Amino acid sequence: MISSELRAYLHEFAANDQAKMVVLTGAGISAESGIPTFRGKEGYWKIGSVNYQPQEIGTMKMFKQNPQEVWKWYLFRHTVCNNSQPNPGHYAVAEMEKILGGKRFTLVTQNVDGLHFRAGSTFKNTLLIHGDLTHVRCSKDSCDTELLPFPEGIAPKTRESAISLEEWERLRCPSCGALTRPHVLWFDEYYNEKYYKYETALHKNREADLLIVVGTSGATNLPNKMYYNALNNNKQIVVVNLDSSIFSRTLEANQTGHVLLGKSGEILPEILAAIKDTI
Ligand code: APR
Repeated sequence: MISSELRAYLHEFAANDQAKMVVLTGAGISAESGIPTFRGKEGYWKIGSVNYQPQEIGTMKMFKQNPQEVWKWYLFRHTVCNNSQPNPGHYAVAEMEKILGGKRFTLVTQNVDGLHFRAGSTFKNTLLIHGDLTHVRCSKDSCDTELLPFPEGIAPKTRESAISLEEWERLRCPSCGALTRPHVLWFDEYYNEKYYKYETALHKNREADLLIVVGTSGATNLPNKMYYNALNNNKQIVVVNLDSSIFSRTLEANQTGHVLLGKSGEILPEILAAIKDTI
């Protein structure tokens, strides 16, 4: 249950047509859709007899050493994402956007699974700060092709599926013939505006009166910058997370904001209801 204090704030926020909000989501919002989070125990990937965490697989270093394994992991995740459905948390976020409109609402997501869009969130008001699995791009920086749609004709993959020679050809850059790579931000790479809307995300966050952080452990740079910018500028912050996180613990230590520990698929519809009550 959300507190009466938070409900009252959400009513006041919704009634003020100048007030703006940012929703920042991580893997946790998709957990109830069956997509493993990154730092949960189910997130690992086996190469030979070794278990690797996503943070080790999703790197340019590993791609250069072992492009086959990196593509196998992403093709498997692509299949898992395609076989998953949005959950009530995604739908609640999409409806907040619909009610408030793009002038007052921005979604910033670390997720590449595409579930926000399938729930109705729009590309116009969504910043994909870690890229997305519906696009690939050439692995050669010098080639500089635009983003390419994820190749057609690649079969769904299990953890064990091999990639056929014909499928490998579909994973080649149409301009230069080099291998393409998933359009995602790897752990040994950096944010930028071109691919990951870095400055836009910080700008929208600075403009916002309310930041709602959902389903993220706080392990990455840009979400950290956004959170601490909001905290240091006395913005209203709501953290929705299954477990306590650096973000929830910092709010509690500062006795500010609202921490809602539980499933985002249950909590976000309550936040939506409090906003809808007013508008
Ligand atoms: N509802 C709300 N929160 C949940 C739920 C749920 N049903 N299930 C899990 N969580 C929380 C977990 O408690 C955890 O704090 O979601 C968080 C997921 O954390 P991570 O697995 O670290 O995922 P995320 O924070 O999105 O990772 C950030 O790092 O791994 C890279 O690029 C990758 O985008 C990813 C980024």
